[in-house]
Amino acid sequence: MAGKTLIAPSMLASDFARLGEEVAAIDAAGADWIHLDVMDGHFVPNLSFGPPVIAALRRYTKKPFDVHLMIAPVDPFLAAFADAGADIITVHPEAGPHLHRTLQTIRGLGRKSGVALNPATPINAVRHVLDLTDLILVMSVNPGFGGQAFIPGAIDKVKAVRALIGDRDIRVEVDGGVAPDNAGALAAAGADVLVAGSSVFRGGDYAAMIAALRNAADVGS
Ligand code: DX5
Ligand code: ZN
Repeated sequence: MAGKTLIAPSMLASDFARLGEEVAAIDAAGADWIHLDVMDGHFVPNLSFGPPVIAALRRYTKKPFDVHLMIAPVDPFLAAFADAGADIITVHPEAGPHLHRTLQTIRGLGRKSGVALNPATPINAVRHVLDLTDLILVMSVNPGFGGQAFIPGAIDKVKAVRALIGDRDIRVEVDGGVAPDNAGALAAAGADVLVAGSSVFRGGDYAAMIAALRNAADVGS
């Protein structure tokens, strides 16, 4: 797996007054995917942005838009996010009554599907929908805010998710408190996409921070 870890900076930690320029800058700095956190103030205790903002950002990069939906109910909005330019649409199992149907809908819209597991959500939540899943997102914080402390138990959870996946073509992404000091352990456990908000944007030198994450992951994997 060496050299295969993707870095997906979370725009939640960027300067919202210059969001388009920030997306272009993070692309130029070497981001593999652009992680976009959508929050509704109901499923999670915070608000961020929705489809019109994502659509407006689409012209600033050709990199995949990795859209993490923290909204409930999620089903009524899937088409709007697909139309806005999402490439990967990730949902939480708790955000609707029928996860299988939600994933079918995302695939039907021609997009890649993801399932996000909160720290307290068992990996069994995804066991019976693996054939409809392109990505499993292991949350290493409780969703809702950037800048929270990494929950170390996420490392063992990544290992368990990787074992559950077996030889299926499913990516394992980790989100929350990811930094160079845990990227190696996460990659070694089987993560191949790392989301990073604060650790990339707080330092100022985006390229250096992305490179530091990638190098730490590649040493670990
Ligand atoms: C949390 C979001 C994360 C968050 C990560 O609800 O899903 O993507 O922006 O931010 P950091 O890397 O600062 O923990
Ligand atoms: Zn996220």
